[in-house]
Parts: sequence; structure tokens; C-alpha cells
Amino acid sequence: MYRKQTCGELRIANVGQQVTLAGWVQRVRKMGGLTFVDLRDRYGITQLVFDESDGNTALCDKANHLGREFVVQAIGTVRERASKNAKNPTGDIEIVVTELNVISSSEVPPFTIEDNTDGGDDLRMQYRYLDLRRSCVRKNLELRHKLAFEVRRYLDSQNFLEIETPMLIKSTPEGARDFVVPSRMNPGQFYALPQSPQQFKQLLMVAGMDRYFQIVKCFRDEDLRADRQPEFTQIDCEMSFIEQEDILEMFEGMSRHLFKALKGIDLPKLPRMTWADAMKYYGSDKPDTRFDMRFVELMDVMKGHGFGVFDSAAYIGGICAKGAATYTRKQLDQLTEFVKRPQIGAKGMVYARVEADGSVKSSVDKFYTQDVLQQLKAAMSAEPGDLILILSGDDAMKTRKQLCELRLEMGSQLGLRDKDKYSCLWVIDFPMYEWSDEEQRLMAMHHPFTSPKPEDIPLLDTDPASVRANAYDMVINGVEVGGGSIRIHDAKLQQKIFEILGFTPEQAQAKFGFLMNAFKFGAPPHGGLAYGLDRFVSLFAGLDSIRDCIAFPKNNQGRDVMLGAPGEIDQKQMDELQIKVDLKK
Ligand code: AMO
Repeated sequence: MYRKQTCGELRIANVGQQVTLAGWVQRVRKMGGLTFVDLRDRYGITQLVFDESDGNTALCDKANHLGREFVVQAIGTVRERASKNAKNPTGDIEIVVTELNVISSSEVPPFTIEDNTDGGDDLRMQYRYLDLRRSCVRKNLELRHKLAFEVRRYLDSQNFLEIETPMLIKSTPEGARDFVVPSRMNPGQFYALPQSPQQFKQLLMVAGMDRYFQIVKCFRDEDLRADRQPEFTQIDCEMSFIEQEDILEMFEGMSRHLFKALKGIDLPKLPRMTWADAMKYYGSDKPDTRFDMRFVELMDVMKGHGFGVFDSAAYIGGICAKGAATYTRKQLDQLTEFVKRPQIGAKGMVYARVEADGSVKSSVDKFYTQDVLQQLKAAMSAEPGDLILILSGDDAMKTRKQLCELRLEMGSQLGLRDKDKYSCLWVIDFPMYEWSDEEQRLMAMHHPFTSPKPEDIPLLDTDPASVRANAYDMVINGVEVGGGSIRIHDAKLQQKIFEILGFTPEQAQAKFGFLMNAFKFGAPPHGGLAYGLDRFVSLFAGLDSIRDCIAFPKNNQGRDVMLGAPGEIDQKQMDELQIKVDLKK
């Protein structure tokens, strides 16, 4: 038997007990005639002690020759420590070792296996199996396991069936780019890896499964960001004979269950915000509502006073940063530089400080009388000590998005985005369509199977861009953790939506025929949503990137640096697949 106990379980109550532990050597310290070895496994760290004065020099010698990350087995007796370590749960005891067996030696690891490691990102990813030995990384995987487990527990209690759907499917338009897989048996033809099991779960509803879920890998070939991976995991769900309200209730319930089980937090009833309000007040469909600082439109107040930039603007909006009037000129210049970065794209920023006596001093004082600046103060509900920041532009939506970035930056600078505070809401009533400059046509904002709001259906013929959808997102701390919609279950309406998206009936039949055919055989009303499991876990763990809760993630170039993937394949494999690549072209 390699071990009888783990390195995390021994306490003062075990003193005097004979134990057998196995694990990795965290570190070895020699202090005079004593050698201390920290032994680590998944469960914790236990101190081993070797004492030369016990007369067993061979044993002490063996301990002194252990290197970091050696795998050893230690047999000995638990004893109370002379100097205790309150930070470690096993810190009251140590093991006086009588037998030490080296199971595996180790090369010196390329970085220290500690929470504050000296290893950079690339090195840690290259040796991810060593990185995963660090308790701060392992804890994220433990949390991930627990979250997935609690999801299953909740959904099972609500009669959901977990059903697997295929990974080798057909490429469909809309959404992100597909990852494709060549078919050897069908030369020149490709499978696509699923971006989500959307159509399958709808077919499962037609099949009468009633309530489906799946914790499932999804694949999207899109540009990567901190909250995006090319392969990620969804908690994918669908229900039959429901309306939007039923879905919101069910999944608010699931979130409540997860918050309680994982964080001990009682989630209040989630507020709901329409997409239109989210854009108007936060410039984002995923507002971070941990802090207020809502946008105030200032066209009435600031336009028409001779300041050309504002006078010609299609939108002028401001935010009020409470207590930030102390910002120095340098800090304000830095904020201006921030909004002018190409990623944000504002042309400039106007600021106004509310002084202790209530007067307002702005960066554009020469265009505005104190009277107008007082109107500004009133519109912004600003008080002495507050700082007003204003952006303008000739495209209202673009300017709102820039103001959103500025708001988030101010929230961060003022310490208002506490990772231990959670603010959740539903964003509802998304538009059905958004205009794509690239494609020069309307595209489905969610996906083409989303149902329009019944009261907006007449607008499909007259003003499709203004049609709202029965679509909803769950947003936590400015992160879209999940989203879904009520689906169209009427083949005729579905056909019409495809038409608006620019598909001919033949194209629609070729791409989505299987779903439309299924709808001819009795489709129940249905809808659902999918959560991003990685995003949920990283919010609970307070991580900056979802990479940190994925065992083997890809880097920003979509590469697995440990495997060296993607990589070339043998000519033989290429020949079998009948793929000809001329890289010289
Ligand atoms: P959607 O495309 O909104 O909806 O995706 C659902 C959720 O999946 C997560 N997510 C991602 N997480 C990490 N990396 C990515 N690249 C990534 N892309 C998406 C997000 C998002 O909210 N089939 C529909 C759902 C439905 O209608 O039921 C769908 O996939 O948290």
C-alpha cells in the first residue's frame, strides 16, 4: 500500500499514530542535525522530520539528498510540533520518519511549484502538468468540478435528462467560424465541430425529451480574449411547453442554487433590464452593475453653445465619478489617452470638476457660462467633490461603447469592481437582427432559430431591424455568463426569418432542412439557454481569464504550447484525406 493517509488530513488528534504518506517533495530544509521535508499531495502539505540524534544517519542522508518534486513514500509517527504553523491545517503536527522510499526522482522543475511562482505564462503552459500541481491552480479545477456537480444535481432534481449530441456535425452559416474536420471516407468533404448543440437540442424537443441538458464542449474559430477560448464548455439546456418566464424562473433557480452551494451567497431576485436600457445607460449589453455611474445624455445641455465638437455631435453623454474631483491634470490626461487608444477610438474627453463651493470648472470653460455648467451639474446629479467625464461623437452607438470603456476604467480606478461582490441581472428584449457592415445585410443577433416577440411579428415585413426577440442573457459583473431564447416552432415563420436573413428557400433547405423537416412532424413550443461554464467558474474563483480554470487551455494564438498543436500532419495522412496544400502560394 503506497499510502494510508493523505498529506492534508493529520491533526493534533492523530499524535502518536503510525502513518504512511506519499507525495511530492515541496522543499527540504536542513537545520543543524534536523532535516525538514514538506511533503505535498492534492490534499495538503505535511512536514516530515528526520533527526540525526536518533542515530539513523543513512535515513537522514537519504532525506538530505531529496530534490524538489521527488515522489516519495514516508512511514513514521505523528508528533506535536514544537513551533506550530497556524497557516497550514496540518501545521500543529509533523511526522518523525522511520522509513523513506524514493518512488520517482525529478529533474529540477523549470519554475517553483508555489502560489507565487517565478514561472512566466508561456513556461507554465508548456509544463502545464507542473503548473497544475500549484494549489492555487488546482483549487480552480476543484471549484469547476463542484460547479458541474451542482449543476447536475439541480437539473436532475428538475427532471432534466443529460443527453450527448455528436461532435462531428455539419457546418452551418451564421455565428462564428467553424473548425472543420476532413472526412477520409468522403474525400473533399468536411465535418464541422459544433459551435453549440443548438439544432440537436431543438430536435430533442421535437423528439419529446421535454427537458434536456448537457455539459458539453463547443468549438468556435474566433479571435481570442480573456473570456474566450476556441474550445470551451457550455451548460446547454432546453425545455418544452414553456414561455420565456418559465425559462427565466428555472435558470434563476439554478444560479441561486449554485451561488448558495459554492459561495454561500443567497442570490436576490434578479433585476431585469431591457437591451435598449442597457445600451442607453451603460453602453453595453452586459453592464457591470456592481457600481452605478449610469450614462446621462447631455445633448440638451451641452449643444449649441459654440463648442464645435459638441455642436456637431450626434450623441453627447457623461458619467459622474463620485469623489473623483481630486483627479490631477496628469490623471485626466491619462484618461484622455485611454479613450483615444485605437481599441476605443474616442477623439477626446471633456471633464468638469465640482468644486467644494459648488462651482463647476471644466476643460471647456471658455465655451460655457457658469449657468450652463450648473445645468450640467444638475443633469448629472453631481455634488461638490465629483468629477464629470463627457464623450461625444457622430455615431451614438459607437460613442456609447466608448463611454462604456471609460465607465469601466473609472470603476476599476475607484475600486468599485470588487471581485467578491456579485451583481447579477437578466438583459431581455434583444433585437432580432443587427446590421453587418462586413456582410452588408441583417444578421441574427442571437441565432436564426430565435423567436420574435409576438407583438413585433407584423414589423418583420415593414421594419425588420426594429423587431425585438424573445432572447435573454444572464449577466454577472459585466460578464455574459449565459444566453438563450424562445425558439420558433412554426416552419412557416422559420422560413420567413431565413428569407430576411437573405437565404433563398433552396439555401435554407440545404442548410437547415433537417430542422425545418422535423418541425413538420409536431414541434412543441420550446426554448432554452446555454451558460458558459468556464466563465461561471472564473467569476466564482475571481479569475481574470477563463484560461485559469481550464486544465489544458490554448494560448492567445489558439495554440497548445505543451502539445505543439496545431501541428503539421504526415504526407501519408494528407494523401489519405486527399488534401493538397501548397504553402508556397
Ligand atoms: P451563445 O453563443 O450566447 O449561445 O453562447 C452561450 C454562452 O457560452 C459562452 N461562450 C463562450 N465561453 C468561452 N469561450 C467562448 N469562445 C465562448 N463563446 C460563448 C458564453 C455565452 O453566454 N446555442 C446558444 C444558446 C441558446 O440559445 O440556448 C448559444 O450557444 O457564456
